[in-house]
Amino acid sequence: MTSENLLDVRDLTIAFRTPRGYVEAVRGVDFVIRRGEVMSLVGESGSGKSVTMRALMGLLPETTRISGSARFLGQELIQKSGRGVHGLRGARMSMIFQDPMTALNPVMAIGAQVAEAIRIHNRSISRQEVRDRAVKLLRDVAIPFPEQRFDQYPHQFSGGMRQRVVIAMAIANRPDLIIADEPTTALDVTVQAQILELLRNLCAEYHVGLALITHDLGVVAGMAQSISVMYAGAIVERGSVEEVFYNPSHPYTRGLLGALPHLTGRIERLVDIGGNPPTIFALPEGCAFSPRCAFVQPRCRVERPLLRQVRSAYAACHFAETLPAYPVQEMQA
Ligand SMILES: Nc1ncnc2c1ncn2[C@@H]1O[C@H](COP(=O)(O)OP(=O)(O)O)[C@@H](O)[C@H]1O
Ligand SMILES: [Mg+2]
Repeated sequence: MTSENLLDVRDLTIAFRTPRGYVEAVRGVDFVIRRGEVMSLVGESGSGKSVTMRALMGLLPETTRISGSARFLGQELIQKSGRGVHGLRGARMSMIFQDPMTALNPVMAIGAQVAEAIRIHNRSISRQEVRDRAVKLLRDVAIPFPEQRFDQYPHQFSGGMRQRVVIAMAIANRPDLIIADEPTTALDVTVQAQILELLRNLCAEYHVGLALITHDLGVVAGMAQSISVMYAGAIVERGSVEEVFYNPSHPYTRGLLGALPHLTGRIERLVDIGGNPPTIFALPEGCAFSPRCAFVQPRCRVERPLLRQVRSAYAACHFAETLPAYPVQEMQA
């Protein structure tokens, strides 16, 4: 890996123990996040986005089989267990979930929770300093009257304000990487935009890498530099947002973009492709997308396409170069 790569994931494969034996939910995923970069991970529900990111945080059940490599700040995360790696992740990598209540304790005052997030990696600082820093963090995430709100409880905060608190906790120790898993899906549309803008500004200000899982391609266009598209546990296309949006090489990506009339508008549903994604228990032979693909050929039903370079991006399609020309769309600045 080069020194500018914050996170370098290679051939990540994740299998869950189920009553029907081990089943692979993630199959050979590769991606890189550079320092200060926003990388978006998109794909239909069940495609393996959350599982991929939870593996990096060490949040999967103990029986899960994980193979491949994930180097974060040059250190291998996979196949290591124990406190050393956990401490590294906790301080240098943090995660924001869809529902802020998963990160907040309902019976603990907001300020005390932010203070705890600061103290957990800084045992030596004084109580007063912790409090001052916590108030400053709440101000940084634009919570009005942070001193007054410090002693209030999560139920006294709106959903958007709670997610701001979670973001404050996520940046409390100046991490190098934040993983945000559909962080605004549960919020009102206007609040979503404010929270995403806040997240984008904080990441730029602190030069934090951001892995943003989202259903909203409008968000990707406005926020991310690179995009990885997941389908049935694998990345089917990845590259710069510009390349992938203007010139998508995978039929699935084209389907996603086809569901987006104008990239400036937000959409609720990501996919407008016929049929349903396969379950991890019954993947089709060959290309997992072949049963739904408008350009399917006999080879696609027998041979699984691997991710390979196509123009300046990467795509997992045998026929990426010979698909019909894609209409060029306007792109949001
Ligand atoms: N703990 C688990 N045990 C078994 N299967 C799981 C577990 N967690 C997730 N899965 C399965 O892994 C697949 C990918 O899930 P997930 O990563 O949550 O999808 P998404 O892309 O919507 O975030 C799904 O089929 C899901 O049912
Ligand atoms: Mg998910």
